[in-house]
Amino acid sequence: MTQDEMKQAVAQAAVEYIKPKLGKESIVGVGTGSTANFFIDALAEVKSLFDGAVASSQATAERLKQHGITVYDMNSVNEMEVYVDGADEFDAELNLIKGGGGALTREKIVAAVAKEFVCIVDSTKKVDVLGEFPLPVEVIPMARSQVARELAKLDGMPVWRENFVTDNGNLILDVEDLEITDPKALETHINGIVGVVTNGLFANRGADVILMGTENGVETITL
Ligand code: 5RP
Repeated sequence: MTQDEMKQAVAQAAVEYIKPKLGKESIVGVGTGSTANFFIDALAEVKSLFDGAVASSQATAERLKQHGITVYDMNSVNEMEVYVDGADEFDAELNLIKGGGGALTREKIVAAVAKEFVCIVDSTKKVDVLGEFPLPVEVIPMARSQVARELAKLDGMPVWRENFVTDNGNLILDVEDLEITDPKALETHINGIVGVVTNGLFANRGADVILMGTENGVETITL
């Protein structure tokens, strides 16, 4: 089975997982990336079961609209049953690194609103210790160098993601070579650096359930 086939299988499984939670008034939070794209395509098949979606990026909003799914502004939504999104890495405690696609801030906002965060991944995303994947940090443009100096003190190497601007008009620093033994503390610490919008650690609000596509089918992982 290819990685894309695993992503497709897990996306389909996510639709089956959320179906019983949906009602005519439900709003589904939808993430960003290739796995989320497979999810959007599968979600379109059951679009009559729910009202609409909130998108974690402009790209996701476009894809949802192409499928005829109504996209709501986050500010007009008070309640969201479920948020479905991919991840770049996850550990046994369901902590995540996200933001490979640069949508981390909006993803974090939608995850914060949702009652349940369903993370969809293939088995290549599973790690013992987070940090093999460079940690994305969204920064206000004028703070890029200052934030990079602060991040360098954490024993990681910040690398400017050149020619990339987030949907919020900001920049991304990808921090390489981190060994993240306390994800909650590091998430909080980095978010406290002046000029940081947010970082790609989802530990203080991690996933509630992970659906993982493997060679042998989809596994459900909870704590
Ligand atoms: C985007 C993300 C994605 O969820 C993450 O990069 C995983 O992407 P993919 O499903 O393409 O492997 O956080 O900001």
